[in-house]
Amino acid sequence: MNKSSLISALALVLLGPVTAARAQDGGQVNVICSVQAEWCNMIQTVFARSTGIKINMSLKGSGEALAQLIAERANPKTDIWFGGTGDPHLQAAEQGLSLDYKSASLPQLQVWAQQQASQSGYKTVGIYSGPLGFGYNTELIAKKKMPIPKSWADLLNPIYKGEIQVSNPASSGTAYTMVATLVQLMGEDKAFDYMKALHKNISQYTRSGTGPIKAVARGETTVSISFVHDGPGEAMQGFPVATITPSEGTGAEIGSMSIIKGSRNLANAKRFYEWALTPAAQEMGAAAKQFQVPSNKAAKVDSRVPDFKKINFIKYDYAKYGASSERKRLIAKWEKDVNSLPR
Ligand code: F6P
Repeated sequence: MNKSSLISALALVLLGPVTAARAQDGGQVNVICSVQAEWCNMIQTVFARSTGIKINMSLKGSGEALAQLIAERANPKTDIWFGGTGDPHLQAAEQGLSLDYKSASLPQLQVWAQQQASQSGYKTVGIYSGPLGFGYNTELIAKKKMPIPKSWADLLNPIYKGEIQVSNPASSGTAYTMVATLVQLMGEDKAFDYMKALHKNISQYTRSGTGPIKAVARGETTVSISFVHDGPGEAMQGFPVATITPSEGTGAEIGSMSIIKGSRNLANAKRFYEWALTPAAQEMGAAAKQFQVPSNKAAKVDSRVPDFKKINFIKYDYAKYGASSERKRLIAKWEKDVNSLPR
């Protein structure tokens, strides 16, 4: 069975019997989807079949999604933005790009998801969370006789020269989470010195946050800086990939969802929003081999979801690092002080 028929079959199992006639009678909704394609595709199929509302789906990384929403501000074409790291969703809220909406389901959500909503004036909400860490190719690392990196400090070892990939913080929320995490962990000056030193070991800054762990899985690079919940899905496909979180401490994303101000299909956008907060919709992440922690407390947590209790987390300041001025400033500084350096 190919991937898309497998997704449709899984969708039908999750949904139960539905009539084909319901699939296209409820109008449409335009969604930017910032999780991986398998999950986006499953959402598209299941939501259309269960509500009759067609989803026009566009897949974009977190930074790219925000850039699109800014570009279409005067004439919004998007109704809802599903997924992606929380910082750019907070920035969208601050810039008046998203609509305040208070769901009756909020009390069913984890505290971090409710906080994401309240601190944005209910212009966004947490839908999942996941920790930042490293991915590595277990076969390559053994073959090249490299140690498994266990800390941020370990990544500076010259043995990893040209062996590490991470994404670009301008396009990717994963990489922005790394920049913000390091600044909070080390202080800004030391964090930038660290990223300059790390730059020597980086082979490529990718556009998408999941690019590096996919490259690790396929043996194109040895180590990645990635969300660790993106590792098990690659391993389930048979790739030799494992993940670890750094001993000094790490940050976590609050994957978020926002309704766009000026949405032309507002009733359908709200319907999608409510649906996406249900336990059944949130369990689709794991069904699509994506292992973030769901925000609805009643959603089942798959055994492959990283165990937060075993991870050393920093106290990530979501409000500060989701502020427009701070995000813009840090990304510009990274471009100037880090990305422009020769290797
Ligand atoms: O879909 C996987 C994922 O890691 C999400 O958990 C996260 O919100 C998103 O990718 C970030 O993608 P990007 O770094 O490309 O913005």
